[in-house]
Amino acid sequence: MSTAVIGSLQFGYNTGVINAPEQKLRSFFNDTWMERYGKPISAGVCTVVWSISVAIFSVGGMVGSFSVGVMANRFGRRRSMFLVNSLAVIGGLLMGFSTLCSSYEMVIAGRLVIGLFCGLFTGLTPMYVGEVSPTPLRGAFGTLHQLGVVVGILIAQIFGLEALLGSSKLWPLLLALTVAPAVLQCILLPFCPESPRFLLINLKQEEQARKALVRLRGTEDVSKDLQEMKEESAKMALEKKVTILELFRSASYRQPLLIAVMLQLSQQLSGINAVFYYSTGIFDSAGVKQPIYATIGAGIVNTVFTVVSLFLVEKAGRRTLHLLGLAGMAVSAVLMTVSLLLKSVAAMSYVAIMAVMMFVAMFELGPGPIPWFIVAELFSQGPRPAAMAVAGCCNWTANFLVGMSFPKLEELCGPWVFLIFTAFLLIFFIFTFLKVPETKGKTFDEIARSFGAAQPPASSSAEDADAGASSAAVTLPASPVK
Ligand code: GLC
Repeated sequence: MSTAVIGSLQFGYNTGVINAPEQKLRSFFNDTWMERYGKPISAGVCTVVWSISVAIFSVGGMVGSFSVGVMANRFGRRRSMFLVNSLAVIGGLLMGFSTLCSSYEMVIAGRLVIGLFCGLFTGLTPMYVGEVSPTPLRGAFGTLHQLGVVVGILIAQIFGLEALLGSSKLWPLLLALTVAPAVLQCILLPFCPESPRFLLINLKQEEQARKALVRLRGTEDVSKDLQEMKEESAKMALEKKVTILELFRSASYRQPLLIAVMLQLSQQLSGINAVFYYSTGIFDSAGVKQPIYATIGAGIVNTVFTVVSLFLVEKAGRRTLHLLGLAGMAVSAVLMTVSLLLKSVAAMSYVAIMAVMMFVAMFELGPGPIPWFIVAELFSQGPRPAAMAVAGCCNWTANFLVGMSFPKLEELCGPWVFLIFTAFLLIFFIFTFLKVPETKGKTFDEIARSFGAAQPPASSSAEDADAGASSAAVTLPASPVK
């Protein structure tokens, strides 16, 4: 499990790493330009190159997360993780050698490749962890993915300090450091068992699955787990692998898919990354003296509350924590607005810090960890990889949109900007209250049944139960279910 979570750590690290060395990168772009064209780069071009370097990471993430289903089905969960690490090595080396080669294109290419890598891992890790966890601990283990992410962000914030690796000499090393965990994970992965569900349900290798379970549970008696998987396998016998197209076409997946997508959107449109990408600026405008330390403080609160959630999630349940988190974030966003509006009052800078910390803490109670692992819970073995791909891609797209539009929104709305997120938070609160079921303690099979997903599509998707319901569906090409 800890090996799989190295991938989450990488996602967090690469999310957080680019902010601190902004000025250093800008002057590197300028130096390269000087070398090539004999004149300094214009401010406009420099900003374009900078914005591309930041944003192309999310573009890679969208593509990577969307490809996760194909990879996971073809190579299995464990081997996919192994192979995908090569992207981290390529991306890290591209960025690490960019100054030596005087090429800012290498930074951009490296960020794209790293984005692909992170996108793949935001699907692979929660899927693997969900599949190997025993049912009563699936939520707690699922939260480990988010714990990896937040620790990654915190490490990046600390290493990015000017005194450490955030200096004008060492920033390429800061960006290339991502190679180290990739190599470590490749060394450790051969010692980890493949997902027993993949072995049994997808590959029909019962003996191998039993062996994997014995290693995972640390006991010889794994008959209960095996029995549960066999039952799922028997029910899903006709379901097999589901492509993304089939996922959208089948009525039985509509409800869980809607929930999965809405939860991903609730995570990103809560505005969390407006804080993580721009907190230093936000603290600055609220009159905080040393904003960088307040930012690191937010990273620490972020980590602490993810641990709190880890212990609460199997007791309080997913639904309750998600609702609590969304409501708490909405209140904090209002508080943040008040503090920005009244910033002429000296004490307001403390209120701003408190509001941001509360916002982050409430995020990690539910909206941070839960959307990532609940998708694996809402779907059974057949549709799971396709569902992870769709959900992950929605998450990355929303992340990209918030990241790109926040500076402009802030310009337009001034101190009122966080009320936009308050509105989203309220909408998602209502949706969660009305639609999201509790998945705590239920087996995958029980969850699937609660959606009435009793009958998966028959052997060919062309005979999809609801194919007749919409003429558009009939005209879709019927890709064979392998
Ligand atoms: C979640 C989000 C990610 C965010 C992080 C903050 O993992 O997916 O976008 O940066 O939480 O902790």
